[in-house]
Amino acid sequence: MRGIVLAGGAGSRLRPATSAACKQLLPVYDKPMVYYPLSVLMLAGIREILLICSSDDLPAFRRLFGDGSRLGLRLDYATQDVPRGLADAFRIGADFVGGQRVALVLGDNLFHGSGLSDVLARCVRDLDGAALVGYEVDDPRRYGVAEVDDDGRLLTLEEKPPNPRSRLAVTGLYFYDSLVVEIARGLRPSARGELEITDVNRIYLEAGRASIVPLGRGYAWLDTGTHESLLEASQFVQTLERRQGVRIACLEEIALRQGFIGPEACLEMGHELYNSAYGRYVIQVAHSFLDDERAVLEAM
Ligand code: DAU
Repeated sequence: MRGIVLAGGAGSRLRPATSAACKQLLPVYDKPMVYYPLSVLMLAGIREILLICSSDDLPAFRRLFGDGSRLGLRLDYATQDVPRGLADAFRIGADFVGGQRVALVLGDNLFHGSGLSDVLARCVRDLDGAALVGYEVDDPRRYGVAEVDDDGRLLTLEEKPPNPRSRLAVTGLYFYDSLVVEIARGLRPSARGELEITDVNRIYLEAGRASIVPLGRGYAWLDTGTHESLLEASQFVQTLERRQGVRIACLEEIALRQGFIGPEACLEMGHELYNSAYGRYVIQVAHSFLDDERAVLEAM
């Protein structure tokens, strides 16, 4: 399966914080926002990834990740200079998708929770058509909203309904079969002038090929659309990282644990960031892997 991180958009609601760099490059506590959605694709086991951003921001993303090879990824870039809607990602990324199944994650969505990789792995394994990730929120009117029956089967999908039929929001993480490219090509812009992802999802739903995987209350799905929610997301990450002594969305650690890279490569990246607590954490993780490897060799 391939993955797309959509990190375009005008960022106008956060100006002037986003006047020089896009929102997805702003920090959420100790790392750029885009680390969080990228980590989700990596946790799903996806290594071939397309990052879509504006041409102004492209050099900064390239500085951050290069071709992705240091993380054991193959990272391609494409540009979107006009925010034509989320489904535009599949028009821009059609060649990249190349007839494969594909996951889309929005560059400003942050997910966290124990067992997330298992949920993601299941989404990938059981995919038949489209799989959406849901999350119950207090006020769903700002999101895509899903209605399900008692067995969790998806009944309806609505984009930002004034009178939502449920509290189950559709998050910015979606899994599709390869038909999504053709479906996106056939879309017409909505009343607000965008190629809506909800229209894509409705087409799958009408064909009886869309499901929703709700993340339970043990998970966090955080918003970063306002200064307040951005600050809250940073505080959430800070609280967990300090309390537990682990880092959320540490890409080097995920690459290592997923077997995308070895501990030596991880150690080298940690040393390059040595001046920061993040870098020292990466070194610590690499060392614990090297110690484990040594113990296994000694026991042989
Ligand atoms: O976050 C989940 C929600 O994302 C879903 O519940 C909604 O169904 C979905 O439509 C979307 O709603 P938003 O109102 O959050 O979409 P927004 O236009 O704010 O775009 C989300 C992110 O995607 C934002 O960081 C900007 C980026 N973006 C947006 C558009 C329209 C792009 O990169 N390109 C675009 O063309």
